Amino acid sequence: METHEFEAIKELYNEGNDTVPAHSFDEHVLEVYENAKELLEGEDVDEEVVKYSALLHDVGRKFSREGGHAEKGAEVAENFLIGELEKEEELAKKVSECIRHHSNRPHLKPPTREAEILWAADKLHATGATGLFRFLLTMGAKDYSTEEAFEILRERVSDAEERAKEFGFEDLLSGLKSLKDFIEMYEEENYASN
Ligand SMILES: [Fe+2]
Ligand SMILES: [Fe+2]
Repeated sequence: METHEFEAIKELYNEGNDTVPAHSFDEHVLEVYENAKELLEGEDVDEEVVKYSALLHDVGRKFSREGGHAEKGAEVAENFLIGELEKEEELAKKVSECIRHHSNRPHLKPPTREAEILWAADKLHATGATGLFRFLLTMGAKDYSTEEAFEILRERVSDAEERAKEFGFEDLLSGLKSLKDFIEMYEEENYASN
């Protein structure tokens, strides 16, 4: 990827974006990009598709949430790659497909290995101590109650674990393990009978 393309994507992401710091370009997108590059190793996939997908995956966050940020981001990324970066339509469509399926919604299961890698790269940043920190900061900024946040975490961890096993991402499973330990600790403190 050329430097001017990287800069253009960063500008697109940042312009008018008031997302929480835990989802900023520097704090989140760059981490997902690095994760994606590591996950690419040894995989028989289109590297360009994964790299552009990683950098553009959350670009829909700053727009209206109708249909979700993944759907919006898929549309924005495709238009941007063709219109601004003058990329081939085929690449743009593959990137768009990865972005559309990067969230955890059950009906949005990643349809290609490239999309699975993007999903795992994004999820890796939501696991381990770092992921927990980011999750709590985000929930706090959105005014969720402790109980609501805990339920969301529990659900996300269980969905992600299922997929990580199915897709074969070992590192992700170990990141999820520490979240499971935390969930268990919380349950013991709060729901233990007698
Ligand atoms: Fe996202
Ligand atoms: Fe993300």
